[in-house]
Amino acid sequence: MKTLIAGASGIAMATLATGAQAEPKTNMMHQWAQGSEAAAIAKLGEMFEAAGGTWEQTAISGHTSNTLAKLRSDVVSGNAPAAVQLKGPEIAEWNATGATANLDEVAAAEGWDDVVAPELVSVMKPTGNWVAAPMNIHRVNWLYSSPKILGELGLDVPKTWDEFNAACDKIVAAGHTCIAHGAADWSDSTTFDSIVYGMDIDLYRAAFQEADVDAMRSQGMIDAFAQLRKMVGYMDDGINGRSWEQSMTMTMTGEAAFFLMGDWTVASANLAGFVEGEDYYCHQTPVNWDGDGFILNADSVVFFNQKDEDYIEGQKLLAQIIMSPEFQVTFNVAKGSIPSRTDVDLSEGGFTQCQQKGLEDLKASVEQGTLVRSMAHNMTVLQKYRGAMMEVITEFVADDSITPEEAANQLADAVELQG
Ligand code: BGC
Repeated sequence: MKTLIAGASGIAMATLATGAQAEPKTNMMHQWAQGSEAAAIAKLGEMFEAAGGTWEQTAISGHTSNTLAKLRSDVVSGNAPAAVQLKGPEIAEWNATGATANLDEVAAAEGWDDVVAPELVSVMKPTGNWVAAPMNIHRVNWLYSSPKILGELGLDVPKTWDEFNAACDKIVAAGHTCIAHGAADWSDSTTFDSIVYGMDIDLYRAAFQEADVDAMRSQGMIDAFAQLRKMVGYMDDGINGRSWEQSMTMTMTGEAAFFLMGDWTVASANLAGFVEGEDYYCHQTPVNWDGDGFILNADSVVFFNQKDEDYIEGQKLLAQIIMSPEFQVTFNVAKGSIPSRTDVDLSEGGFTQCQQKGLEDLKASVEQGTLVRSMAHNMTVLQKYRGAMMEVITEFVADDSITPEEAANQLADAVELQG
């Protein structure tokens, strides 16, 4: 028996039954290699160490696809990570291989069933057992805007895509960049997530959640690509090689009017000292239907079976910490996201107005039946389909000779090729 008591954070860890003298250790693989993301995951390391664990991490820079590729190669070479940040259907896929640990014991002891946001449960329990510990809920469909440019031109934040285009025409005519953007497969697809969703929610569900190729070839998808083409025209010439943080800065310093990106932006803005309401506003990306929309993304941690008792103990400790109210506040304040527990009060602990609005909109969206999961952020289809779709979307952004009709067909063809 070994009792683990957290130090500074004050979390009283459950008593863990361990036959041997196991010393909890972990090595967590994740995609958060720099900036506010690295700062947020460092909080987990600090809490793990404060609770008596030995923390190591393997940060894979780039976006989720890189982490997924590394995970695959590590598992194939018999070196499965003790803990890995994993999302959406990939959780079910890895669970089906039998290589992942069952978290039911920790989940029962800690009462996860009573506190985890219902929107996450089926993803974390793909076949009825807890396989993943959810860290957060991220909102993908945020539109950040520049108070400076909107104020100068007397513009309101656009609510529909027509209003958005009309605002951009005025902003460009006044000599400003309308959309700050950094081209990358996932960020191009983040923008496209919002376009398809805001133009036709049923199309989003069919094409991006169910991978329905007829929906991909439909007129609605052609119209969505036409909107994306228009928006590329509202970007400046410097999108290649620009990071999302640099794009964010363009909007927050008044160099560009709008930035479409998930709420990890809030964390990066805080770290850079930008102030909500002064340097930026946050609103949902435009929708052509009336109502509140929420495109959901969630980061979670999956544990791969280990032989070494220290790593097994480390998995239990890490799972407990991730789901603790203390971690959920500390991490999510630092990450820009919303806690995965429903019993955390966002009016305390340093959550921003945008984060609080995110939670309100999540609830409203659930009530209105408009909630979807994000294709661009690995929450709907397997990586092989997402990767194929993202390639088509990013090619379309890069090459303006591709027509919207061609892109819609390419999207369907690419998915069909994956079988
Ligand atoms: C991840 C976030 C991350 C963002 C930008 C998303 O897919 O879920 O944790 O902050 O990408 O890198």
